[in-house]
Amino acid sequence: MKTAILFESWHHGNTKKLCEAIKKEYDVTLLDVKEDAVELEEYDLICIASGVSFSKFYKEIEQATKDKMPEGKKVFLMYTCGKLGQDFAKNIKKTLSLKKCIILGTYCCKGHDTFGPLKLIGGLNKENPNEDDIQGAVKFYGEIIANFNKGDAPNGNVN
Ligand SMILES: Cc1cc2nc3c(=O)[nH]c(=O)nc-3n(C[C@H](O)[C@H](O)[C@H](O)COP(=O)(O)O)c2cc1C
Repeated sequence: MKTAILFESWHHGNTKKLCEAIKKEYDVTLLDVKEDAVELEEYDLICIASGVSFSKFYKEIEQATKDKMPEGKKVFLMYTCGKLGQDFAKNIKKTLSLKKCIILGTYCCKGHDTFGPLKLIGGLNKENPNEDDIQGAVKFYGEIIANFNKGDAPNGNVN
């Protein structure tokens, strides 16, 4: 089984920390949407991972998903954000469902956020993602692949 994690993480590299922790434990390919060629056909399982901007995944990864995600793929989602409580994956899920992709789960956690005036106070969530958040993502991936063949979705850390 081949897994790719396509990510966009330019604010503080928060989301990238989750991706890199998964790569440390498992055989996955990390694709930075800003640097790497986005070719997803060969992968059996694809993660879309992003920071959140104005309640959505970042623009470039939203666009790459529209343009480059093959139809019918099994997908899971990860994001980091300033404030938990809403489903910031809502928009990307719509794109994926139009492509008949099967969404296996979503993992999210808080990330250091210094957007706008927050900078003046050093930002929110200075310590996040912390070790628990990062290990939560690794565990979540473990559950995703355990359920992969069964087609079950773990609950994830969805708010
Ligand atoms: C321009 C901008 C807009 C943001 N909008 C939101 C938002 O709508 N909701 C939220 O919870 N966090 C928001 N954030 C916080 C980021 O999603 C958060 O810091 C995230 O962890 C950044 O991920 P990254 O370091 O992987 O890029 C925003 C940050 C920036 C820079």
